[in-house]
Amino acid sequence: MSKFPDSQRMEKIVSLCKRRGFIFQSSEIYGGLNGAWDYGPLGVELKRNLKNYWWRVIVHERDDIVGMDGSILMNRSVWKASGHEDTFTDPMVDCLVSGKRFRADQIDEQSGWVVNFVGATDFEAFQKLQQEQEAPERSRIWSEIELGPHLRRIFTNPSGTFDLNSRSGYVQLSDPVEQTKSLELLIKRGILGASSLQPFSAMEIGGDPKSFKWSSRGVNRAIRVAQDFYRKRGVRNPIVFAVGLEREEHSKRFNPENGSLLTEPRSFNLMFKTFVGATEDESSLTYLRPETAQAIFVQFKNILEVSRRKLPFGIAQIGKAFRNEINPRNFTFRSREFEQMELEYFCRAGEGMKLLDYWLEERLKFYENIGIAREKLHARNVPDEERAFYSKGTYDIEYDFPFGRQELEGVAYRTDYDLSQHQNASGKSLEYFDEETKQRFVPHVVEPSAGVDRTVLALICEAYSEDEAPDEKGKMETRLVLRFHPRMAPIKCGVFPLLRNNAQLVAKAKEIVGLLRPHMNIFYDESGAIGRRYRRQDEIGTPFGVTVDFETMGEKDAALRDTVTVRERDSMKQERVAINDLAGTLLAEIT
Ligand code: GAP
Repeated sequence: MSKFPDSQRMEKIVSLCKRRGFIFQSSEIYGGLNGAWDYGPLGVELKRNLKNYWWRVIVHERDDIVGMDGSILMNRSVWKASGHEDTFTDPMVDCLVSGKRFRADQIDEQSGWVVNFVGATDFEAFQKLQQEQEAPERSRIWSEIELGPHLRRIFTNPSGTFDLNSRSGYVQLSDPVEQTKSLELLIKRGILGASSLQPFSAMEIGGDPKSFKWSSRGVNRAIRVAQDFYRKRGVRNPIVFAVGLEREEHSKRFNPENGSLLTEPRSFNLMFKTFVGATEDESSLTYLRPETAQAIFVQFKNILEVSRRKLPFGIAQIGKAFRNEINPRNFTFRSREFEQMELEYFCRAGEGMKLLDYWLEERLKFYENIGIAREKLHARNVPDEERAFYSKGTYDIEYDFPFGRQELEGVAYRTDYDLSQHQNASGKSLEYFDEETKQRFVPHVVEPSAGVDRTVLALICEAYSEDEAPDEKGKMETRLVLRFHPRMAPIKCGVFPLLRNNAQLVAKAKEIVGLLRPHMNIFYDESGAIGRRYRRQDEIGTPFGVTVDFETMGEKDAALRDTVTVRERDSMKQERVAINDLAGTLLAEIT
């Protein structure tokens, strides 16, 4: 039974993806580009199989859906009308110490002790004044009459610690209001050296949940992080002033990694800006599309006219989308450049809710048909408060990834919102004329919108497994196998001559390659022991291995002439199949 979330499993998957050429980091030799990925020779095959199958079941196998391929760059007015320019935002927060950016809604809740600070001053200046306090009459500063009460307020028996090695420390202020006023005055007069009066708070990560203990050596994590905060603001060797302590429950105000206070959430538009043409100003500004759907909406009328379809009917599209995600993460799951497979299924207002349920079922079936176990798929009925205001119903189809349950696809009933927005903004009618009722109206739409990259990742996660198999000497060893559905497998069949140095076996194997190649992606391999060749294919999920041996040549039994061994990846069972039946037998499994 695997742990959940299972980070070890995810690490193995990421490493296999690189090792066997499924997915690489983009621009890797230059240190990479966060949120962008390149698909290698096997990854691209897997991705194509997925897209082709989606296109087949959504477009080719139905009468009521046609396809299109829209451009990535569109008139900026599209994004104004769709609402993306004003509202396609995520709330973001920054860590005040590390500068790391988070999506505010994705911060894990923290409970713990929070220490509040009013500022920090320079260790050397502080220490010097403290020493001078012992003989104030000899100190120029301590001798200034009006400074005396303020200096005493800060320096008489301060509670806290000072670390001579790190030249830093902390002081607890027992009378925060008065002492802060004194600090302010001393700092303004330049008496305390480099200082800051910027308030700050930090949560003590990993501290005792019941009671907060000030560390005798000033090494509380909250204090360390506060020292870093003030160092970044010019106080090289800070003594930080703590003014209060409080317990906070289920807070999202602090960086879970270091306890630092985060900034207040700010809206961050996720669209990548670009300029069309030679000038780079507002007049040439547009965006890389953040979803493919809008091209479908703005071409609705053209496609309706040329396809002569009646409602309900759909327009499907597969293509790239771009979002400047605040935190790309979980491998390809949240990327900045990704592909979508979107269907806009137009209908009458009264049909929307029924079609929403219909499409949810269709899409769940799709995932099962590509080899994702039904029990790992979940349909989440998105509650009112999380849904877009114009949506009357939305389901998220979620999958149990090793890093947790996450969305694969959204199936949303978007009403007539999109077409109405574009009709109003463009001034062009996007109405449908119903021949039977002689009525004109703006159609409603149900949208199943799936992510190609997320589904590829789900396919790999679902397929990844380790079992036991005998090695060349019959000793059991761990076998790494990707149990892809044959329909999705990047390579459908490996073809192996039993021996590489037997011209007859090699020639026969190459003949089989020629026979199968027009029908499927195959891989010819003659190097190494046959068991090793099987293992290499198991690791990349090739469902079938065809071996040409001496029986194939009719050397042992004339009845077996022109038959080969077909080995099935998961069961490792081997069967003899006539070469003439080979293409048909394999095609039945992979289509
Ligand atoms: N037209 C509707 C739409 O775009 P969405 O829920 O924002 O809806 C649909 O996106 C799907 O696109 C998601 O379910 C997911 O599979 C994929 N997707 C969205 N953002 C993504 C990202 N940053 N990286 C990878 N896939 C993403």
